[in-house]
Amino acid sequence: MNKIIIAIDGYSSTGKSTVAKQLAKHLGYVYIDSGAMYRAVTYFAMTKGIIDAKHFDADELISKLDDIKIRFVFNSDLGFAEVYLNNVNVEREIRSMEVSNLVSKVSAIPEVRKQLVKQQHAMGEEKGIVMDGRDIGTVVFPNAELKIFMTASAETRATRRYNELKAKGDNVSFEAVLKNVQERDYLDSTRADSPLYKADDAIEIDNSKMTMEEQLQTVLGLVNKVL
Ligand code: C5P
Repeated sequence: MNKIIIAIDGYSSTGKSTVAKQLAKHLGYVYIDSGAMYRAVTYFAMTKGIIDAKHFDADELISKLDDIKIRFVFNSDLGFAEVYLNNVNVEREIRSMEVSNLVSKVSAIPEVRKQLVKQQHAMGEEKGIVMDGRDIGTVVFPNAELKIFMTASAETRATRRYNELKAKGDNVSFEAVLKNVQERDYLDSTRADSPLYKADDAIEIDNSKMTMEEQLQTVLGLVNKVL
């Protein structure tokens, strides 16, 4: 069957990755979490002492970009691919609040974006891919056959993220999570390079009141119209 590229963009914690994973599984497609790539670069910079809450050396990070190797390795137990940074599984580390608090500053650096977009293009070469992020339908794959823009209220999103972090045993407050979601949305949609916005031809889905199954069925309906 004809394989396509499916781009899913939207604000932080709209549940894009949950739908994208299910969709990819259903279609037998590859799922790529582009946010994980920006998180991995951020985690790299933190562990090398290049950035922290008080110090941010963009030039040093740019000079080290060639030392960063990001790979996705499929974990059959989990049913999705995990992120490896220089051959180490960092799937858990990259989801911490420390990384979340710095990632939008890192992702605003044009050189970082250029490097990651190049890798994302290579991943999409054979199509049959579901990629989620902020600029997938606008910059990375402007010709994607299906573009979806997910939305949900900031409180709904912060609650989802808070529950996810709590379930993993992270000690975070709801207020800190809400603040992070709002700050990232602001930075991501106002940055100069590849800001987050809805592509003209993207279909908007507000999933605030939708179950996972309803979201999957809605998106599958859209895929069937394109195939
Ligand atoms: O999707 P996730 O919330 O994990 O993304 C983390 C951050 O990575 C975003 O807040 C944004 O700053 C950055 N990002 C981006 N472009 C993408 C995906 C993520 O700038 N395509």
